[in-house]
Amino acid sequence: MSKVDVVLGCFYGDEGKGKVIDYLAGDADLAVRATGGDNAGHTIKVDGVKYAMHLIPSGILSGHTIGVIGNGVVMNPEVLLEEIDNLKAHGYDVEHYLKISDKAHVILPYHRMLDVALEKARKASKIGTTGKGIGPTYCDKYERCGLRVEDLYSENFAQKLGELVESRKALLKFYDPENEAQIDEIVDFDKIYRDYTAYAEALKPYVCDALTYLHKALEQDKKVVVEGAQATLLDIDFGSYPFVTSSNPTIGGIITGTGLSAMDIGNVYGVIKAYSSRVGEGPYVTELLDATGDRIRELGHEYGTTTGRPRRCGWLDLVTLKYAKRVNGLTALSVNHLDTIGKFDKVKVCVAYDINGEITEDFSTNLEFLNGAKPVYREFDGNFGDISGCKTFEELPENAKAYLSFIEEYIGIPVKFIGTGAEREAMIVR
Ligand code: GDP
Ligand code: IMO
Ligand code: MG
Repeated sequence: MSKVDVVLGCFYGDEGKGKVIDYLAGDADLAVRATGGDNAGHTIKVDGVKYAMHLIPSGILSGHTIGVIGNGVVMNPEVLLEEIDNLKAHGYDVEHYLKISDKAHVILPYHRMLDVALEKARKASKIGTTGKGIGPTYCDKYERCGLRVEDLYSENFAQKLGELVESRKALLKFYDPENEAQIDEIVDFDKIYRDYTAYAEALKPYVCDALTYLHKALEQDKKVVVEGAQATLLDIDFGSYPFVTSSNPTIGGIITGTGLSAMDIGNVYGVIKAYSSRVGEGPYVTELLDATGDRIRELGHEYGTTTGRPRRCGWLDLVTLKYAKRVNGLTALSVNHLDTIGKFDKVKVCVAYDINGEITEDFSTNLEFLNGAKPVYREFDGNFGDISGCKTFEELPENAKAYLSFIEEYIGIPVKFIGTGAEREAMIVR
């Protein structure tokens, strides 16, 4: 039976997971999303066309890989139908290449409104959520009143929805009393029932028991890859809580979000950029609030795929990366944006934290620890030149090789994929 390859983000998201999945999909039969929702934005550039994938696994872009939306995902049907239409307009046969777990939870209009209202109500402690309703939908899931895809087809749908709409409307009005008229208009049972019945009809051909589907595929020796969304430091348990998302984007969430077992997992690829970025609030030890940070943002086009927000930028942090390796059991790395970092004369990488004069290489998500940590840097020569034509590690300039070799040595796992540009072909595979 073949093993499942997993692609995970190591920092705060947007490391280029989509691009790695797009490569792996080249010989994969199935690509699976396990966690998160349309807060994710995975960019793939194919023949000059830029795809921003939010819910549908990026692997589908291979043209022969079936995308599976796992049970751990929270799914906004309106967004999903838009994505389906967009792919169809680009010639993709989505009908035969998309499956949705009947156990995935459904995002309703009030989830999005509640997300925004809760964020507004947070005064000094804003999280900077994407406003897609992710947190409130997972809250309903864990409160055991959430709507799953299968509920849309159940005879109890109207009753369940009715109870939810009434209680959540009251909650929304509590948090956002000035918005009463709009709440009444949007959180209206008749309207939601009508819309979601129509969505359910449109999505019916895609819905399946994804767990059984995945296991049967593995038993038939099909190749499965899992497309992680978000990243290790955004994990609800292992991230910089409360500045995190509401799911487990780390390896455990891949298992609970798909029904695959730990024994099914093969390679676990950790994706990083040759620098780092973060969007939204929260601690960030190697953040550069100066011209260098601005230059990374401009050279790397670091603006959010989902919200368009400018991303905070800084040097690569190997202390955090080692933590991500431990949490996820990473077997190899993918380092993207080597082209971007190679434009700097000097490149720094954080090798330890200085905590009030004490040097440590051990990471903690304790906020006081993170807010008090000062990065200890090691400097490398940059100026990698034009590396767009390099197809092997050996062809890379010595400075680039030295930088990558140091990362490997520090973390203790190989760099398997190297991103040399945004296009699909701009990648070295070792
Ligand atoms: P994801 O959420 O982890 O899939 O990453 P995003 O798609 O949100 O952000 C990564 C950004 O970097 C996208 O704009 C990609 O097109 C771009 N990208 C990925 N790898 C490379 C690379 O090696 N070089 C350059 N220049 N851009 C890259
Ligand atoms: P991909 O898969 C970057 C961040 C948000 C916010 C926090 C909580 O593209 O790497 P949420 O809406 O999830 O409740 O927001 O998490 N966030 C991401 N940042 N990339 C993502 O996904 C993200 N998904 C959520 O910016 O700080
Ligand atoms: Mg992204």
